[in-house]
This record gives sequence, structure tokens and C-alpha cells, in this order.
Amino acid sequence: MSDSPDAQPADTSTTISGGGRTPIRIFDTTLRDGEQSPGASLNHHEKMEIARQLEALGVDVIEAGFPITSQGDFDAVGAIGKELGRATVAGLSRCVPRDIDRAGEALQGANNPRIHVFCATSRIHREHKLKKAFEEIVKLSVDSVKRARQFVDDVEFSPEDGSRTELNYLVDVTAAVIEAGATTINIPDTVGYAVPEEYGHIFSYVREKLPQIDRDGIYLSSHCHNDLGLAVANSLAAIAGGARQVECTINGIGERAGNASLEELVMALRTRADYYDKYETHIVTNKIYPISRMVSNLTGLQVQRNKAIVGENAFAHEAGIHQDGMLKNRNTYEIMDPTAIGVPESKLVLGKHSGRHALGERITELGYSLDGEALDKVYDSFKALADKKKDVYDEDIEAILDEQLETGRRLWELVRFQVTSGTGVIATSTVVLRDSSGTEMTDASAGDGPIDACYSAIQRITGVKVTLEDYQTRAITGGKDAQGEATVQVRHHDRKVRGRGLSTDIIEAAVKAYLAAINRIKTTEERKVNATMMNGETRSGKAAQP
Ligand code: KIV
Ligand code: ZN
Repeated sequence: MSDSPDAQPADTSTTISGGGRTPIRIFDTTLRDGEQSPGASLNHHEKMEIARQLEALGVDVIEAGFPITSQGDFDAVGAIGKELGRATVAGLSRCVPRDIDRAGEALQGANNPRIHVFCATSRIHREHKLKKAFEEIVKLSVDSVKRARQFVDDVEFSPEDGSRTELNYLVDVTAAVIEAGATTINIPDTVGYAVPEEYGHIFSYVREKLPQIDRDGIYLSSHCHNDLGLAVANSLAAIAGGARQVECTINGIGERAGNASLEELVMALRTRADYYDKYETHIVTNKIYPISRMVSNLTGLQVQRNKAIVGENAFAHEAGIHQDGMLKNRNTYEIMDPTAIGVPESKLVLGKHSGRHALGERITELGYSLDGEALDKVYDSFKALADKKKDVYDEDIEAILDEQLETGRRLWELVRFQVTSGTGVIATSTVVLRDSSGTEMTDASAGDGPIDACYSAIQRITGVKVTLEDYQTRAITGGKDAQGEATVQVRHHDRKVRGRGLSTDIIEAAVKAYLAAINRIKTTEERKVNATMMNGETRSGKAAQP
């Protein structure tokens, strides 16, 4: 180990590079594995915004979706692949011919396309899920890689549940898919079961047994889930074992307990560049904080307060003795400079005298790319809000942007509502909604309180029956004129969907959140119908997710 943090100069540079270090590819799967987090579905505009910001962040590969599973994923992979010029854009695919063809089709015209095929190899998956012998799995994997190579030169193969696969089998399948044309081999810890030394050893073992990996420049990759809280530690161990690509997500979102968090991995490599002195990434670290906020806002998945790097408390010092140390020398209790990850030094406040230009600049700094008509609409909402509240903070602007990005799927809009409630009376509501053809519909309902009464009226108007599973409210900034945010999670058949609403009136925020969730459900349903018609087949939903 070299220098301790107290010896470090205050470091505000935003990338780690130089000194002949080995580049570690950052493969971001926020839009695929991340979007598989229950309730986190993103619409097309939201995916585009996140993809643009991921490219600006400097990630090397963006996994933009799983094209066979929905029209939304197919469109996102296509549009992101065509728009982005630097990052590689990957589409996921099972080892099933029509999956691969669909991924290939989605990526047609992409600037830097990659197809990522996966097939489970562990005993438990072979025997219980796939019901296939290992030899059959190898053949399927080889055939699939060859098929994918007919569409693109860049093919990644993942032996799903790789960390629980017998090592000799892992070596055999890896050798076979390399021979078939795979250029990256990702060994996932699908269920978050591995521990660092063991996971790192898998990489050094496979490399030792297969010299063609280093000789032919084949990339080994890690993909860690966080079920035991070890995803980042395992990814670092994989790098030490020879992985040259790490798969991760913003804020660590993903299936179950999530994936390795991009910001933790990158900042561990950067902050401990003295220890990890052989490696570098191309991440522009001062864009980490804005994209963390963007992903949290657009997915509705809040970042826990004490989350490393991007949590609200990550740079807060409460204990007197710590505060005293910090005043004397920040390095006593702070190992990273918050500005290096883009935490604003002071809060910039806009108000009703701020112009469109100032707002536009702030929006760009927050990582969004709106202009023209979209910016005009945001400006109108900003003005309306500034009339109601004196200071407009970043959180308020992000909330407006979030609402604006929802517009594409606003099939139902709130026109007005009225509630009666109080102690000892039955709460009632009257709600007026407008549908996308401009027709207004009114209904009235009673309920267990004003919000429940509004929700019943909305269900009756839209005809969408859902179960409310979670409901939360909070003030998004300080002050008594603060906007209230309501978030709901509803269940519709087997799908969990989130919605978010904002207003200086908390009942209105709750109504908007519920309507946002219902609009999300309706839009997905419409997309499914369209996709089925376009494909000329009747798929009844998503392909089995990894
Ligand atoms: O966790 C997993 O195994 C995956 C694969 C598709 C790489 O997400
Ligand atoms: Zn995964």
C-alpha cells in the first residue's frame, strides 16, 4: 500500500489516466439490468436522456435494452445506437434465433453495435431451468455467437450464473465461444453469491487455461449482483484477476439488490489510484452526481441517504470532532473531494426574474439536453412555479423536467379535482380528466380519505384497475412554500409501476402521481399491441428475463 489519504493533495481532476495504465472498459447496464428493477420502467424520452448523459460521462459500452422483450426496448436500442457516436451500444439476447435476429435488427444502422448473448451454464440452471446437458448448452452458445456475428463484429457472450458454474465447464464454454467469434466474455455473478477472492480467482484461472484470451485481445468482463453487498468488491477482485471490462449501473440499480454501482467502482479506482495503479477508466467523474440524480428522478428509485458517493449524507459531517477536523484540514475526514463527482459547491437558486437562457444553462448543467419547443414548455412550467414560490431550486427544476419527459405518455391529463374531507365525514372527490382526444370526463367517488376518493374516481374514468402498493410523500426542498412530491407504486396484473407527481398542494401531487402510473400502464399496453401487430405474432409479454 502506498500513501494514505492524508498525504494526498486536494484532487479535483475528473478522470484517472496516464502513466501507461491499462484501460478498464466501463459497461453500463442501467437501461437494461437497471431498468429491470421492479417499478423502474422508463419511457423512450427518458432512456434517450440517460443514454446521452452516459455517453457524456464517458462510459465505453451502453447496454440499451433487450430488444425481443418489448417494442420499447427494441426502439430504444435502435435510436440510441444510431444517435450515439462514441460509445458502443449493446442489445441483449438469449441464445434463441429470433432473439438474436431481433437484436440484430434493432442495431441496424448503429454506429458501434454489439450483440450480447447469454446462456446459463451452472448445474442448477442446466438441470432445472434449461433441462439440457452441458454439451447441448455449448452447442447452443456457439451457434448463437455465430448467428450474432452475421449481424455485427462485436459479440459478447455471458455464461449466465457463471460464478456457480464448474470451472472446467466455464473454461470449455469460453474456449468454444471465442472460437465461434465472441470478442468479450462476461462471467456474471448472476445471483450475487460469490465472494471477492473466489470471484477474482475465476478470472485468473480462465486466463491461465486459455492463453488466447490475452494473445488475441479478448476482453474478460465482470457483472456482479449485490445480494450480499459484495458487487463492487467482487468487481474489483475481477479486475485484479484480469477482467478488463466491468458491468455496472448508475446508483447500483438492478435486478433484486441491484448491480455493482458505477460510481462506487469508478471512485474506488480513482481515489485509490495509489493501490490500483495499473488501471484507468475514461469516466468524467464530475458528471457522476448529475447522472445519479437524473436516474433517480426518472426511475423513481430514490438513492438511500447513506449511499456511498452519491447519497445525501456521503459528504455530511455531523460529529463535532469531525467538523473540527474538517475545518483544520478536509483530508482528516474526507477521502474524496465532492466537486470531483460534481456535487455543486453552492445551491444556485432561480426565481421569477430568471430568463429562459439562465434556465436553459441550468438544465444543461443538470445533464439534460432539451431545447426548442421542449425547453419552452419547461420554461412555462418554471414561470408558473416561480409565481407560487420565491426560490426555485435544482430539485424543482428536475421535477419539472421529469414531468416534461412524461408528456409523451400522458394519455390522461388532470383538468381539475375537488375534495371534501374532515373528521367524522366520508371523504368524497370529483375528478375531471382529459383524454388524448381532448374529451373531458368527470366522475365522483367516496373513499377512505380524500386521496383514496380521488384514486377511485380516476379508476372509474380510465377503466384501469390497479392495487396501490406503496405511497410516499415528501417536501423536495426546504421552506413552507416547498413543492410536495408524491410517489406511488401500483400493481397492475403482474407488473409493478411507479408514478411521481409534484405540486405545492400535496393532494394534487398524489393525484398526479397516480395518473402518471396509469398513463405508464396504458402506454405500455398500446406499445405491446403495436409490437404484436408489427411482428405478426401474439407474444403474451416479456421474454424470460435473466
Ligand atoms: O445477471 C446476469 O447474469 C445477467 C446476464 C444477462 C449478463 O444480467
Ligand atoms: Zn444481471
